[in-house]
Parts: sequence; C-alpha cells; structure tokens
Amino acid sequence: MTDKKLKLVVSTGAGISAESGISTFRDADGLWENYPVMEVASADGFRRNPALVHQFYNARRADLGTKKPNAAHLLLKELEKYYDVQVITQNVDDLHERAGSSNILHLHGELTKVRALDDEFKTFKVDYATATTPDTVMDGHHVRPHIVFFQEAVPNFEPATALAAEADIFVIIGTSLVVYPAAALLHYVRKGTPIYYIDPNPSTIPEGVTLIRKKATEGMAELARILIEKATEK
Ligand code: APR
Repeated sequence: MTDKKLKLVVSTGAGISAESGISTFRDADGLWENYPVMEVASADGFRRNPALVHQFYNARRADLGTKKPNAAHLLLKELEKYYDVQVITQNVDDLHERAGSSNILHLHGELTKVRALDDEFKTFKVDYATATTPDTVMDGHHVRPHIVFFQEAVPNFEPATALAAEADIFVIIGTSLVVYPAAALLHYVRKGTPIYYIDPNPSTIPEGVTLIRKKATEGMAELARILIEKATEK
C-alpha cells in the first residue's frame, strides 16, 4: 500500500473569497460594475494614470486587511492531510496563505506585494495599510502593484499548466471561466481525470465536468466528504 498521496489540483477564482466579504468581478454589483476596469486594471490605464491605479489597489489592499479566510479556504488546507494539494488561484488576496495552504500559485499577482517598475522580479512584501503612489521608492526603485493587468502576460500560466497536467483530481471553485489564459487550465488536465466545479451560478459548464451548484463553503463541505472518503477507502 503506497502512502503516496494523489495530486489534488484546485483552480480558484473570486467566488471562493465571496463569503469572506470580498467582492467578485462580474456578479451583480461586482467590482467591474463599480470601477472602469480598463482605467484601473489595464496596462494602458496604468500608463495613462498611474496614481489612479495605485489608489485602486491601495483601497483593495486596505479592505483585504479587514477580511479573513472562510470555511472553503480552510477545507483546502484540511485536504492536505489526504492529498498533495496544489492551489492555483486567479485571486490577488492572501486568504489561501492565511488559511495555511502549503502550495499556492498566483496567476494574476498579489495585493500584499508591490514590485520595482524597472525589474519585474524585484518584489516587496507590504502590509495591508501600505498605500503606494507613483512617487513611492523602495530600495531605490519606483514601484507598482504586483498585479497582472489586462493586456499583460501571465508568466505563471505555464507552470500552472504543468500542475494541471499532473492532477489526479482537478477542482474549479468560483470562477466565471471567461478570462484567459486561466480559463483554459482545465484543458491541460489528462483525459479521464475527474473534474469538479463548485459554483452557485456558473456562466458555462464545461463538457464532462461534475458541477456542484453551491456556494464555495457548502460545495467544499460536500466535496471534502467525497474526497476524504475516496482517499480513505481501503
Ligand atoms: N461561492 C462560489 N462561487 C461564487 C460565489 C460563492 N459564494 N459567489 C459567486 N460565485 C461565482 C460566480 O457565479 C462566478 O462564476 O464566482 C464566479 C466569479 O466570477 P468573476 O467575478 O468573473 O471572477 P473570476 O472568474 O475570478 O475573474 C477572473 O478576471 O477581472 C479579472 O483578474 C481578475 O482574476 C480575475 C479574473
């Protein structure tokens, strides 16, 4: 009996953080209903008005400091007892980190970091109260939010596809599957690999996916029971 754990690869979007009180992007009253996305979250917008973009991410970072992980984040940590769990997230919040997940890959950056304008690999950890401006200098570098803006490449997508290709079980939680390349991740999963999708109001239901039409906390409670039973059956 090998004690090698099966690989559970989990792709999360804004929906997993909704029950922590963090707004999603495309639901009713979502972030993009209240902010002009191409002004505050695109490369062109940052070039046109960097101060506005700094302000937008400063406000989201400060808000994040008042939020905490929910039961869905915590269950992903719990499943590490039974599986080799790899989280791939589109979210820029640190709720997976605070829930204690061991393996997290951010596709779209992190609110709790800024990076040098002239060196994308030089990042600085900042606390929730940090408010940067175009004039902020750290270690001699002007900085920007460590966020992948629209119109920018997603450098972590390639390593994410390698993880998806190794999955023994693939789970999608709380993403509308409309933003690429993240939405294409499930196509890198080996044929015949079980894919579960937890979303109370999915905009699309990919072929061959088992949909759990529930909120993340309820859906993860149901899926955790299934996965723990699968992992412990003799
Ligand atoms: N539990 C689970 N899923 C939920 C919940 C919940 N409580 N509430 C909403 N959802 C689902 C919605 O039904 C929707 O399918 O979460 C999804 C949220 O979709 P989006 O708002 O589009 O968020 P996401 O898919 O993460 O956006 C992808 O777009 O703007 C960019 O960079 C940004 O990473 C983001 C990317």
